[in-house]
Amino acid sequence: METLFSGIQPSGIPTIGNYIGALKQFAEVQNDYECFFCIVDQHAITVPQDKIKLRKQIRQLAAIYLASGIDPEKSTLFIQSEVPAHVQAGWMLTTISSVGELERMTQYKDKAQKRTDGIPAGLLTYPPLMAADIVIYNTNIVPVGEDQKQHIELTRNLVERFNSRYNDILVKPEIRMPKVGGRVMSLQDPTKKMSKSDDNQKNFISLLDEPNVAAKKIKSAVTDSDGIIKFDRDNKPGISNLLTIYSSLTNESIKDLETKYANEGYGKFKTDLSEIVKDFLVNFQEKYNEFYKSDKLDDILDHGRDKAQKASFKVLKKMERAMGLGRKR
Ligand code: TYM
Repeated sequence: METLFSGIQPSGIPTIGNYIGALKQFAEVQNDYECFFCIVDQHAITVPQDKIKLRKQIRQLAAIYLASGIDPEKSTLFIQSEVPAHVQAGWMLTTISSVGELERMTQYKDKAQKRTDGIPAGLLTYPPLMAADIVIYNTNIVPVGEDQKQHIELTRNLVERFNSRYNDILVKPEIRMPKVGGRVMSLQDPTKKMSKSDDNQKNFISLLDEPNVAAKKIKSAVTDSDGIIKFDRDNKPGISNLLTIYSSLTNESIKDLETKYANEGYGKFKTDLSEIVKDFLVNFQEKYNEFYKSDKLDDILDHGRDKAQKASFKVLKKMERAMGLGRKR
């Protein structure tokens, strides 16, 4: 069976964008691959975090993975900082990365630009750590949203470089993006990506938003003035984004939705979508609350850590041997 790996940062509460772009596909692939799902807390500290909040968000993210349908009997769910091989392999891949290629990463440029108090070096070396997350499980497939494409391409380059310089041991992963919803946009500025760390709460719907509040955010989402419900990402980004959310939550195709709403205005469409989002969140949060409170959550994370440690140790040792680290045994 092929291996699949993906991660989410506990740098806030995941949004409906994270659900549509990532979590929803994770639950769908569990039967087809050996899956590893990670709470990447070491990535989250590349920008300053409040320690009390971070701890809470780690646990919340674990419960969110489970509420999204990750089955711990089938998949390995764990916390990055509890599996040391990630940073160990991350360091090795940092040594074969060039500053120039890391400076070209758009996520680095965006995040660095926002720092007024100096740019943390970890922001620059984030991508080789992410590459390490992937390669230490011999990962074949990485399901992510569109914004991670550049990082996966860099991972593939680092794998090629490592294999040609040292020994041909790392697996080159393939990216997997959802057909619909690889890039869910901000509700107030649909030319910008929806992000869980956005300062303006109206821009995103968090998976733990009070359902009525979320419904209101949909109703006040920015659209355009021509009143036609049609998917056109470039000219009608607002309504296209709402169509994406609608399609993803109901599994109705965008084409079918355009036909269904051909004679309706934005008011009716938004009212319907706000109900769909509300029902989705009520149902999601019911499951979430159960997992969050349950003692089983720690057992699941303990078990996940043990499995992940065992799996990653083998590749880590091979990498160390290939690079000549430690003693010959
Ligand atoms: P993160 O935590 O920003 O996002 C988690 C996942 O959600 C996807 N995503 C979106 N999809 C659609 N629309 C959006 N607006 C949207 N925003 C986010 C992301 O593409 C991602 O799949 N660097 C990663 C975490 C990571 C990782 C990894 C992922 C660390 N190591 C190894 C895969 C493999 C990140 O910051 O994701």
